[in-house]
Amino acid sequence: MAQAARSAKPSTGKLDIRPISGALGAEVLGVDLAQDLSDDIIAEIRNALLDHLVIFFRDQDITPEHHLAFAKRFGDTVEYPLVKGVEGFPEIMLVVKHEHEKVNFGGLWHSDTTYLEKPPMGSILVARELPPYGGDTLFANMYMAYDTLSDSLKNMLAPLKGVSVSNRPRVQETRQERMADSAKVKPETVLTAVHPIVRTHPETGRKALYVNGAHTIRFDGMTEAESAPLLEYLFEHQTRPEFTCRFRWEPGSIAFWDNRATQHNPINDYHGFKRVMHRITIAGETPE
Ligand code: OGA
Ligand code: MN
Repeated sequence: MAQAARSAKPSTGKLDIRPISGALGAEVLGVDLAQDLSDDIIAEIRNALLDHLVIFFRDQDITPEHHLAFAKRFGDTVEYPLVKGVEGFPEIMLVVKHEHEKVNFGGLWHSDTTYLEKPPMGSILVARELPPYGGDTLFANMYMAYDTLSDSLKNMLAPLKGVSVSNRPRVQETRQERMADSAKVKPETVLTAVHPIVRTHPETGRKALYVNGAHTIRFDGMTEAESAPLLEYLFEHQTRPEFTCRFRWEPGSIAFWDNRATQHNPINDYHGFKRVMHRITIAGETPE
């Protein structure tokens, strides 16, 4: 089904759209994001995002102002709740790993900030400084993760909700450096939200598995111990290699993911080198 949805729509407009894996992800060629883009081009980019779940641009030369202007064509921008933005641009988050650091921000499978009442619809990540090798980012297709469950498990999950928290130790570890130098809340702050385990994408109408190993701690109404076996199964299932793609960053690369139907995992394999990215996040709706 996901395959059909991706191949059934040949590129009809001005953009050249090239899928990079069988599961999700496409490079979008033929657009300069530093330009003032027409509504038609923005609509084509939005369609590409809905079809491919994560889209990539290459060889872009954009300033933080361009980045912000482009993001605002897709909705309101939202600040990351826990860590301050870059100087002069509170909406731009610095996703950085310094030479001497050992953990990378968000270095595990996750979808972004599901501990918020209204998690973001997506993020636009711009590469600013890259290591000579490594630092690729993996993405996974949560429609596929849902579609490939058995009917019995789908039925069982249908009425369930999941509790997301911001302080799972495994994720706190990946942001400890930024909380140490740029926190905007007290370290003991815990954000929490309850969302359906299976959400219906507000634009495509498709169902996506909406748990993630970074933030989902238990099923609503159950203990952590009761929830763990099935949650761990879902975390394992949803990142099967055939549901993923892997993006190799180059100077000028940009990724734009749909946070409602994907997860991502930046690979921490470049110790001793610096990697700097700028992220802008776009507001989403309450998951249903
Ligand atoms: C993020 C994140 C991905 C990366 O910005 O939300 O998880 O490749 N980073 O650094
Ligand atoms: Mn992330």
